Amino acid sequence: MESRALLLLLIGLVMIGGINCNTTTFEFTNNCQHPVWVGTLSGAVTPALEQTGFHLPVGTSVDLSSPHSWSGRFWGRTGCAANPDTGKFCCDSADCATGSVACDGHGPTPPATLVEVTLGGGTSNDYYDVSLVDGFNVPISIEPVDGTGDCRVTACSANLNTDCPTDLKVTASNDTVVGCKSACDAFEEPRFCCTGDYGSPSTCGPSNYSQVFKEACPSAYSYAYDDASSVFTCVGASYIVTFCP
Ligand SMILES: *[C@@H]1O[C@H](CO)[C@@H](O)[C@H](O)[C@H]1NC(C)=O
Ligand SMILES: *[C@@H]1O[C@H](CO)[C@@H](O)[C@H](O)[C@H]1NC(C)=O
Ligand SMILES: *[C@@H]1O[C@H](CO)[C@@H](O)[C@H](O)[C@H]1NC(C)=O
Repeated sequence: MESRALLLLLIGLVMIGGINCNTTTFEFTNNCQHPVWVGTLSGAVTPALEQTGFHLPVGTSVDLSSPHSWSGRFWGRTGCAANPDTGKFCCDSADCATGSVACDGHGPTPPATLVEVTLGGGTSNDYYDVSLVDGFNVPISIEPVDGTGDCRVTACSANLNTDCPTDLKVTASNDTVVGCKSACDAFEEPRFCCTGDYGSPSTCGPSNYSQVFKEACPSAYSYAYDDASSVFTCVGASYIVTFCP
């Protein structure tokens, strides 16, 4: 009898395990003319993905799977190399400052174009967006596949590095523009950061800087309270994240 109870328990555990095997796939594709090193960061209450950072050569794709109830963000690092003297891995843009390819729980150093995702468990809405709230470094899109509902692609396809206002530009050592800061990061003023007296949707509107981002990338978040035109939903989809769509 005892062994039968054990067997039932075991079957039960396998079934729970089966539900955990129910995953969402993120396919990362690099259409840029330069390599990208992807970074992934999970939200506080969801597990890390199997890779927190990886090299994505030009023209290649990599699949990662996540639990159905995952939330987190993705970004692309550019101009990465290991320092010949120290061996430390470092990137011109969106570096996660770990000294290695894995980001290991660390987010990007701004500016970084972000894809943000909160999955709904397969039966309720997934929420996803492209955010320029922490600035821009590389064009990105996220496209739902095989979902149900109002499942639309959202992107920042324009290269804001070429249209970046002078006072927001970030350059590499050879003066090439590798990123475009948010006005919040560049000036650290509450009206740009939507903090303090500007800490609510009714008191924090777009600025002349965020408008530059919004004109270039209408479906992306251009400042903290840009929700109305920037959050997208879909149920039970897989997603394709493309760099330089
Ligand atoms: C996967 O999830 C769907 C929807 O949540 C559910 O109907 C299905 O039974 C699950 N499959 C497994 C193997 O857990
Ligand atoms: C400058 O550096 C960037 C990033 O490291 C590189 O992609 C680019 O080709 C360089 N440009 C020139 C003109 O050397
Ligand atoms: C935004 O407005 C400020 C103050 O009026 C001005 O100094 C700045 O050049 C403007 N920037 C852009 C990108 O329009």
